[in-house]
Amino acid sequence: MPSEILLSLIWLAQTITAQSQPPGVTPPLAQTCGPNSSNVVCVNRYASVMPYHFFREPSEGSIDVSFGQTSVPNDTSFSLVAGADFLVFDQQRGLEILGNGPSLSLVFNVSQAVHEAPVYVPGLNKLFVSQLAPPAGYLPQLVVDLNQDPPTLSEFLSDPPVYAPNGGTFHNGLIYWGASGGNNSIGGTEQRSGIRTLDPHTNKTVTLLNNYYGFYFNTVDDLFVDSSGAVWFTDRLTDTPPQLKTASYRFDPATGATTMIDDTLIQPNGIALSPDGKHVYISDTGSETGSIVAGGPPGSPFNQTGARAIFKYDRVDNGTHITGKRPLFYAQDWVPDGLKVAANGFVVTGSGPGVDVLDEFGVLILRIQTSFIVQNFAWTGDELTTLWIVGQGGIAKVEWNLKGQDLANPTS
Ligand SMILES: *[C@@H]1O[C@H](CO)[C@@H](O)[C@H](O)[C@H]1NC(C)=O
Ligand SMILES: *[C@@H]1O[C@H](CO)[C@@H](O)[C@H](O)[C@H]1NC(C)=O
Ligand SMILES: *[C@@H]1O[C@H](CO)[C@@H](O)[C@H](O)[C@H]1NC(C)=O
Ligand SMILES: *[C@@H]1O[C@H](CO)[C@@H](O)[C@H](O)[C@H]1NC(C)=O
Ligand SMILES: *[C@@H]1O[C@H](CO)[C@@H](O)[C@H](O)[C@H]1NC(C)=O
Ligand SMILES: *[C@@H]1O[C@H](CO)[C@@H](O)[C@H](O)[C@H]1NC(C)=O
Ligand SMILES: *[C@@H]1O[C@H](CO)[C@@H](O)[C@H](O)[C@H]1NC(C)=O
Repeated sequence: MPSEILLSLIWLAQTITAQSQPPGVTPPLAQTCGPNSSNVVCVNRYASVMPYHFFREPSEGSIDVSFGQTSVPNDTSFSLVAGADFLVFDQQRGLEILGNGPSLSLVFNVSQAVHEAPVYVPGLNKLFVSQLAPPAGYLPQLVVDLNQDPPTLSEFLSDPPVYAPNGGTFHNGLIYWGASGGNNSIGGTEQRSGIRTLDPHTNKTVTLLNNYYGFYFNTVDDLFVDSSGAVWFTDRLTDTPPQLKTASYRFDPATGATTMIDDTLIQPNGIALSPDGKHVYISDTGSETGSIVAGGPPGSPFNQTGARAIFKYDRVDNGTHITGKRPLFYAQDWVPDGLKVAANGFVVTGSGPGVDVLDEFGVLILRIQTSFIVQNFAWTGDELTTLWIVGQGGIAKVEWNLKGQDLANPTS
C-alpha cells in the first residue's frame, strides 16, 4: 500500500474517533507538573469532559475504587493519575500549597486497626495517636516522638486508661479526647463514651462528660474546642443499640451543660471550626452505617449512594449554635472522615486512601494519595507545615506549604 493511502487511512480513523467523541474533550486529561523532585500530576479542567468510553466502578463493601482507577482508554495520559503522590486540580492554588519540594513518605507500617485522634503537643514535640480495636478492649495508645531522628513510635498507657479515643484536639495544655466506646467492663472497669482529657506531661486523664441526662452516648467520634473552652462534638451510631439519636453537641466544661447543635445528619463524623470562628464544618459518613441491631452483623459496609458529604454552617447566638446548613463538598472518594481547617481557611478531609484539600467554598484544590485508608491527620512542627496522616495500616508524613491552625495559640 502506498504510504499516502496509509496516511489517509490513519487520518480517516482518527477523524472517525474524534467525531464520535464529545466536542469539548481537550487532551491530555493529566500531565506531570510542579517541582520535578516530587511526584505531582495536574488534572486539567478537573477532567470534566472525558473521551468515551470511560467508566469508574462504584466502591463497595470494603473495596475503594479511586478516581485514578477510572478507565479512560481513549486518553492514555489519565494513567498518570493513579500513581501520583499529589493530584492537583486547581493549578495556581494547588502548586502554591505544595511549594518548592513537597514530599509524601510512609513513616510507619502499623496494624489494620483504625488509627485516629492524632494530636500534636508542641511543648513536647510529640504526636499522640490512638489505636482502636482489634483486639477489642485494648487500652494502650501510641505516641510518635518527633525529637528523635528518625521519629520513634511507642505505646503508652494513660492513668486511668481511656478506651478507643476516636477524636482528639489540643487546648490549654491538655489533649481532649472523644472516647468512642465502652461498656460495664473494659479491662475490669466501666467506661462509657464521652469526653476525656489527657495531661501529656503526667499521663493523667480526667472524664469531663460520660452521659446525656443518664443516657449513654453512642460513639463520640470527633471534636474541637472553641476559644471559650466549649467542646463541640459529634455522636454517631456504631454496632450497638443506641439510646440517643445521632447528633452533634456543644459541651461547656465550665458548667457541665450539653446542648444539641444539629440532629440532621445520618452519621455526623468529622467536626471543625474555621480560623475566624465564624463557620463550623461537619461531615456525614452515613454511607458507612453500622448495624444497630443487638447481636447483628458487625462492620459497616460501604454504600456508594449513601450520605458522604461535608456540610458548612454559620455560627449564631453568641457563638453557641449553628445555622444555615449547606453542602460544602460531596466526597469524590469513600467518606469524608477526619476534618480540619488550615490556617488560611482551606478545609482538609481524609477520605478513602488520601486527603482532599478544598477551599472555603468546597472547590477541590488538590488530593494527597496514600497507600492506606486515611482516618485523620494533624499538623506538626514549629511552622505547622508538616502534616501527619494516620489510618488503617500506615502513618505517613507530608511536607508542604499549607499551615495548620495553631491550637496552642488559637485565634477563635
Ligand atoms: C475510543 O473511542 C472510540 C470512539 O468512541 C471507540 O470506538 C473505541 O472503542 C474507544 N476505545 C476504547 C479502547 O474504548
Ligand atoms: C529538575 O529541574 C531543574 C530546574 O529546572 C533542572 O536543573 C534539573 O535538571 C531537573 N532534574 C531532572 C531530574 O529532570
Ligand atoms: C512498610 O511495608 C512495606 C511492605 O512490606 C515495605 O516495603 C516498606 O519498606 C515498609 N515501610 C516502612 C516505613 O516500614
Ligand atoms: C465490653 O467491651 C469489651 C471490648 O469490646 C469486650 O471485650 C467485653 O466483652 C465487653 N463486656 C461486656 C460485659 O459487654
Ligand atoms: C507518660 O508516658 C510516656 C510514654 O510511655 C512515658 O515516657 C512517661 O514517662 C510517662 N510520664 C509519666 C509522668 O508517667
Ligand atoms: C444506599 O443508600 C441509599 C441512599 O440512602 C439507599 O436508598 C439504599 O437503600 C442504600 N443501599 C443499601 C444496600 O443499603
Ligand atoms: C457571649 O459570649 C461571651 C464569650 O463567651 C460571653 O462573655 C458573654 O457573656 C456572652 N453573652 C451573652 C449575652 O451570653
